[in-house]
Amino acid sequence: MTIEEKVDLISGVDSFWTKGVPRLAVRRLRMADASMGLRNAFIPATAFPAFIALAATWDRAAAYEYGSAVGAEFRAAEIDVLLGPGINLYRVANCGRNFEYLGEDPILAGELAVEYVKAVQAQGVSATVKHFAANNTDWHRSVSDSIMDERTLREVYLAAFERVVTQAGVGAVMTGYNLLNGEYAAECRALIRGILQEEWGFTGVVMSDWGGTWNTMASFGSGLSLEMGVAKVFTRERLLALAGDGALDLEELDRKVLAILAWTFAIEEAQSSASASGQRRGPGHLRTALDVARKGTVLLKNEGPLLPLDLGMRRLSVLGPCAFPTPTSGGGAAKVEAIDPRSILGSVLELAPNVNVSRDEDTLAQSDAVLVCVGFDAATEQEGADRPFGLPWKQVELIRKCAAANPNTIVVIVGGGGVAMADWIDPVKAVVHGWYPGEIGSVAIAEILFGRCNPSGKLPISIERTWRDAPAYGAYLPDGESLYTDPDYCSQCRPFFQVHYKECVFVGYRHYDRNGTAPLFAFGHGLSYTTFTYGGLTIERSDTGVAVCCTVTNSGAVAGGEVVQVYVGDPQSTVPRPVRELKGFTRVELAAGESQTVRIELPERAFAFYDVTAKRWRIEPGEFVIEVGASSRDIRLTGRIQYAGE
Ligand code: BGC
Repeated sequence: MTIEEKVDLISGVDSFWTKGVPRLAVRRLRMADASMGLRNAFIPATAFPAFIALAATWDRAAAYEYGSAVGAEFRAAEIDVLLGPGINLYRVANCGRNFEYLGEDPILAGELAVEYVKAVQAQGVSATVKHFAANNTDWHRSVSDSIMDERTLREVYLAAFERVVTQAGVGAVMTGYNLLNGEYAAECRALIRGILQEEWGFTGVVMSDWGGTWNTMASFGSGLSLEMGVAKVFTRERLLALAGDGALDLEELDRKVLAILAWTFAIEEAQSSASASGQRRGPGHLRTALDVARKGTVLLKNEGPLLPLDLGMRRLSVLGPCAFPTPTSGGGAAKVEAIDPRSILGSVLELAPNVNVSRDEDTLAQSDAVLVCVGFDAATEQEGADRPFGLPWKQVELIRKCAAANPNTIVVIVGGGGVAMADWIDPVKAVVHGWYPGEIGSVAIAEILFGRCNPSGKLPISIERTWRDAPAYGAYLPDGESLYTDPDYCSQCRPFFQVHYKECVFVGYRHYDRNGTAPLFAFGHGLSYTTFTYGGLTIERSDTGVAVCCTVTNSGAVAGGEVVQVYVGDPQSTVPRPVRELKGFTRVELAAGESQTVRIELPERAFAFYDVTAKRWRIEPGEFVIEVGASSRDIRLTGRIQYAGE
C-alpha cells in the first residue's frame, strides 16, 4: 500500500463508512447504531426494549437472543459493523444515556454484553463495545473529565470492558467523548495501548466516537486505529505533512492499517461462512423483543397486593402522558423509529376488553383502580444531555391527585433509570418500572398488570430515596450549573470540568451497604406474584475458583422466574472493600411447587482486588463471605470460604 492509501484508511467517510482500499479491492465497511435495534438503515427495523430493560432481565440467554435478532437485521440491511453494545456504568440517575447501557454493576453488564456480542458476531457483523472508558455523564460530555483512582477504574469502570474484550472476542472498541484523568479518552495511551492492547491483548480496531478526537499526534500515538465518522485530526494533509517531516511513526501507522484490514477481512470471512444471511424485522424478532420486555419489566411495589388486576374489574382509569402514545425509546443515536408502536393504553384495551377504561380525571374516585403512566421520552432523556432525577412536576401533581382520589393507584414509569419517588410513592399502592419498552414492550406491561405474565425483572440499578443519598451526591455537576435537555446546547467550547469519583469503588449498592442508608429500591430488587424459598447452600473449591450451589423452590401458586444472585465480601481486607459485590447470578424459571438446584461458578478474580502498588489483581488470605440473595438487600443464605491466598 502507498502511504496515501494507508493514511486514508485510518479515518471514516460519509459518517458511517470505512474507506477501504479501492485499488486493492479492499471493501468499505458500513456501520450503524443499535442501542435499541438497528437505526437509520432505511429498511424497517424492530424497535427493541432499551438495553437497560435487557439488563433488568439478568438473562444471558435473552441477551443472546436480542443480539442474534439485531445482528440478523444488520445482515439483512447489509451493514457490517454494529456500534454497540454501550456498557458505561450507571453512576447517576441523570445520565441521558443510561437507557442505552446495562446498569450499575460491572459483572451484570459484562456478562450480558458478552452474550450479546457473541450473538451479533455469529451473524457476521462486528460489534463495537463503547464508550471506552468512564463516560458516565452526557452533560457537556466533551469537556467532562472523569477523575478517579486506579482501583476504581479497574474494579468498576473497566471491568465490564475487560470481560467483553477477553471473553467475547469483540471486533471493535469505541472511545468516549470524555476525558479520563486529564486526557481525552481517544488520546489516552495508558488506557488504549497500555491496558486494552498490551494487557488485555486486544488486536481489533479502536475507533473514536464521532468527532471525539482533538489532537493529531496524541490520537495517533494513543493506539487509536480509526477516526470516525470523518477525518478531523487524521486528515491526509496533516498525516502526510507529519510523515514528510519524519514525525509520524510509520510502524504505528502500519499497525493501525493492519488492524483495520484484519477486521475487514474477518468480517468478510464471517459473512461468507456464517450460516445466517440476515433476517428483516418480522414476527420472530418481535417475539424476542416481547420476551425481553416480559422478563425485564420490574414490579417495584405491590401493597395489598393490588396487582394483578382482575380482568373482570369494572372500571379502570388510565392517565398520564406515557399512557398514549407510550414513548418507545430515549433520544439520540439509540432511537429507532418504531413502525408499529404499541402503547400501554392500547395494550390494556386489547387485553381487557370488558373493563371500562376511563381517561377522565373527574371519575377517578369511581374507578376500581387508577393507572398513571409517567416518565421521560426521546426529547427529555437523550444523548448529549442529562435529565433531572425528579419527574416533571406536573406528573408528580397528577400522581398525587390520583392517589388522593383513589386508594388503588398504580404508577408505571417509563424512562432510562431511577426517578425520585419520595414525593409521591407512599399513598401509591403499586409501582412498575417499564424502562423504554420499544415497539412492543407495552404489551408486556399490560400483561403484568393483569397477571397474564408474572413479573420477574430485577433492578440493574439502585434507586435512591433522595438525590442526597446518592453515591455521587456532591460529585456530579459543577457548583452553580444546571441541567439542560436540548443536546444542541452541549458544548465543546466550555472550560473542562472535573467530575471527581469521590465514592471510589463504592458505586451503586456498594455505597448504600457501606454507609447504612437504605435505598428506596435496592439493586437486584423486583417483586413477583409468587414466592421463592432458598436452601441447601454448598460452597466448594472448583478447578477454576469456587462453586456455589443452592436449591430454589417456587413456593407460591403460579409459575415464575427468579434471579439467584451471589455476592462476595472480604471482611478482613487490608483495603476498603464493599460489604458485598455481585460476582455471579443465574435466572431460573419454575412452575408452582417446582425446585431446582443451581450451580454458580465464581472465578478466582471474584475474590481479588486491584493492588495499585503491585499493579496486579490480588487475593488476600482469609475468610470470604458468600451470600446468596434475591436482591442485594434480600440475602437468603450465607456461607464462608477460607482462602489461603496466592
Ligand atoms: C455517539 C455514539 C454513536 C455515534 C454514531 C455519537 O454521537 O456518542 O454512541 O455510535 O454517534 O452515531
